Amino acid sequence: MVKICCIGAGYVGGPTMAVIALKCPDIQVVVVDINVPRITAWNSDQLPIYEPGLDDVVKQCRGKNLFFSNDVEKHVCEADIVFVSVNTPTKTRGLGAGKAADLTYWESAARMIADVSKSDKIVVEKSTVPVKTAEAIEKILTHNSKGINFQILSNPEFLAEGTAIDDLFKPDRVLIGGRETPGGQKAIQALKAVYAHWVPEANIITTNLWSAELSKLAANAFLAQRISSVNAMSALCEATGANVTEVSYAVGKDTRIGPKFLNASVGFGGSCFQKDILNLVYICECNGLPEVAEYWKQVIKINDYQKSRFVNRVVASMFNTVSNKKIAILGFAFKKDTGDTRETPAIDVCKGLLGDKACVSIYDPQVTEDQIQRDLTLNKFDWDHPLHLQPMSPTAKKQVTCVWDAYEATKDAHAVCILTEWDEFKTLDYKRIYDNMQKPAFIFDGRNVVDIEKLREIGFIVYSIGKPLDACGLRTCLLLPKHLGISQFYSLILTIFG
Ligand code: UDX
Ligand code: ADP
Repeated sequence: MVKICCIGAGYVGGPTMAVIALKCPDIQVVVVDINVPRITAWNSDQLPIYEPGLDDVVKQCRGKNLFFSNDVEKHVCEADIVFVSVNTPTKTRGLGAGKAADLTYWESAARMIADVSKSDKIVVEKSTVPVKTAEAIEKILTHNSKGINFQILSNPEFLAEGTAIDDLFKPDRVLIGGRETPGGQKAIQALKAVYAHWVPEANIITTNLWSAELSKLAANAFLAQRISSVNAMSALCEATGANVTEVSYAVGKDTRIGPKFLNASVGFGGSCFQKDILNLVYICECNGLPEVAEYWKQVIKINDYQKSRFVNRVVASMFNTVSNKKIAILGFAFKKDTGDTRETPAIDVCKGLLGDKACVSIYDPQVTEDQIQRDLTLNKFDWDHPLHLQPMSPTAKKQVTCVWDAYEATKDAHAVCILTEWDEFKTLDYKRIYDNMQKPAFIFDGRNVVDIEKLREIGFIVYSIGKPLDACGLRTCLLLPKHLGISQFYSLILTIFG
């Protein structure tokens, strides 16, 4: 029986290995991690991550050919194939701080593999790493190898959170990069045989190591760039009266562009996009390509601009002050169907509002209060460095409340900000919400999930990303005489909405 061991039981390692175990009953899969509570959770009914369909997959194979363990060394030693799926955060200090990937976790995993191994192994890079990491890992392994043969492969994961199980069942492609030597090619074939249990051969691409590593960074950079492009358009739509949904639809109908990933939003989040682009920028700078670095940096700048534009819109619309006003935040995860908050735009939006002394009341169906409080106290990039956690200041804590119900969050609020596109936010009883809010009642939809016309009929003043601004609601809310001259009316709108 082939034995696979995966180091790192996170968002990538856990679901990926569960699906390999399900699809390959003839392979034994052990997922190991140094984090004891995480492994305990993987062995319980309450898995450590929320991912639709994951519970079912784990239940079908846990205890048969899928195991979770803290005994890292034992299982690495016994494995034929070792996947490395540890965190690769952005460096917070030293050379390349704020841009380069911190490979501390990766390096210590590689040294441990070299230390404990007694038989030949294929070592697979699963976490996203800078180009040429494999070369560094190869050096660590071969210099400490005691005659053992290690083959390094790059097999980047393209799953997206929230749809991970579907993405793993039907991947657009599986990418395997390896050395162009006979040993490297043999290792590629061995890993290909694992995926060939359920992925059509035509969808398994093999390349050299560096192409595989760079393809992952490039794919994430292209995806993020699409969102920044549509978000840049959303600002122009608001300024001109165009509707970004109509523009995206028209643009996406071009088969060369395609309709996916063109939803304007308050900004992209998640553990990958920003980190991978920063990493790409750093690699470009190190390779003497400042123009290319500057090009990709712009994708992040527009994303930051979009988040601060949203906060400015909230504050400006609410008569230039949110001080002591209750603002309900609906959704804190970086996208729907996940409890993950890494780099979620909600962090920057909440921090912006808190900076203007608002009181925020947060509801997310999958994110715990502990997680939210921690996220709002951490500095940028600290989220992936668990050792840097600091306690939240008592004053800041008072400004933040977390509740388990959207109606509770919005009760007596002056405004509602929708920051994650959870399906349940589309079907809330907005009349009930309106009745229980302070007036004028504002809704700022950062995900374009609400029916603007319906909400305006109820009486809300609605702002939706990239949509024409709310003139009627504004007239009502300010109790303006209906005969107000059009030029006076527009100058008032300009003053309030900037
Ligand atoms: C991404 C890549 O999609 C995946 O291939 C890679 O393996 C990891 O990084 P993930 O971050 O899990 O996956 O989610 P994704 O669906 O890509 O969304 C990222 C962010 O972009 C989210 O905040 C999402 O809300 C936002 N987004 C996505 C938009 O704002 N608009 C869109 O049209 C699509
Ligand atoms: P991702 O989203 O890429 O899966 P996560 O941060 O969710 O990243 O998971 C990475 C996991 O790797 C964490 O649970 C962490 O404890 C684990 N890890 C990091 N270094 C090691 C190591 N040397 N040995 C075992 N597990 C490790």
